[in-house]
Amino acid sequence: MVTTAEVEPSQYDRITELKAFDEMKAGVKGLLDTGVTKLPRIFVNEQSLPLDQLVIFSEDDQAAGIPVIDLDGATNDPAKRKEIVKEILDACGSWGFFQIINHGIPQSMLDEIRDGVRKFHEQPTAAKKAYYTREYAGKKFIYNSNFYLFEGPVTNWRDTISAIMAPNPANPEDLPEVCRDIIVEYSKEVIRLGHLLFELFSEAMGLSPNHLTDMDCEEEMMLLGHYYPPCPEPEKAIGINNHKDNDFLTILLQDHIGGLQVLHDGKWAEVPYVPGALVINTGDLLQLISNDKFLSVVHRVQSKKVGPRISVAGFFRPVFDNPRLFRPMKEILSEDNPAIYKECTNKEYLKAYFQTGQDGTPALDRFKL
Ligand code: OGA
Ligand code: NI
Repeated sequence: MVTTAEVEPSQYDRITELKAFDEMKAGVKGLLDTGVTKLPRIFVNEQSLPLDQLVIFSEDDQAAGIPVIDLDGATNDPAKRKEIVKEILDACGSWGFFQIINHGIPQSMLDEIRDGVRKFHEQPTAAKKAYYTREYAGKKFIYNSNFYLFEGPVTNWRDTISAIMAPNPANPEDLPEVCRDIIVEYSKEVIRLGHLLFELFSEAMGLSPNHLTDMDCEEEMMLLGHYYPPCPEPEKAIGINNHKDNDFLTILLQDHIGGLQVLHDGKWAEVPYVPGALVINTGDLLQLISNDKFLSVVHRVQSKKVGPRISVAGFFRPVFDNPRLFRPMKEILSEDNPAIYKECTNKEYLKAYFQTGQDGTPALDRFKL
């Protein structure tokens, strides 16, 4: 919990301003609709790395950038599947990110889920308010702005909806009507694809295809629908601040606005928008159990003058209080590859993640042996 003691005396009364923003229950979109033309000071980001550290890989130079992996053949051509597994292993060992094409989710469904998320956020505040909360316990669908509004170091120029879609999915009537059917349909596809990816990750570690599934890595699927409104002073703001994902695996759909950046060799690299593709990244828990074979990498989303930018992220992980202990898997350890991390439950790991804050400091370091 944040107390006012953490606020420097010279600072403005940040907590009071954050509370006022939260109590509006209208998010950044609602604030923008009131006609703000300057960035309200709670959103000023002091964490930015200079822009000259941004590396953009052109389309001709894709090979040097974040890999794009073609999943065609993954389920019916054993030789291709082997190649794909190798590509995933290489991508996750260096970038922690890759994009996939031919993943089997039709373009129309990608368009519809982005549209559904946009429609939710663009409803009148009165229609969204009922869903606005910071109380997650027992809730299957929520809407708010900034998960870490009071805990995080930076207020993000972004609003988010989240729906728990596995193992006990939200009832359709718990979901807002404007995006209900597409959340249900898209989630089924994300869960199917997630399962395939966990099979490929298992094989990449030399294990049987169901190994990671049997370890509950894909037990829960939470779908996030982010809305990044156009920003009046984007150079001072951030859409999502530097962080690593606190799950096993994330499947992300972005749009043509762009702005997602990954820290690679000390530089920010943009994840280019590839129409029809999905962005995959490894979370902290996969890094832990793979003993650093798969890396969980710092990323962020820059704010833009144009927008809104919509993204939809499927987070795979065990349910919060799953009692299973996660540790570097004995099957991949050896004398040359001794365990780097100690064991922990999902809950213990998440506690460390939230304590460390959303500032890019690796929560995993707390579990190093
Ligand atoms: C996330 C995330 C990126 C995006 O939800 O953790 O990094 O493009 N999202 O919205
Ligand atoms: Ni993320």
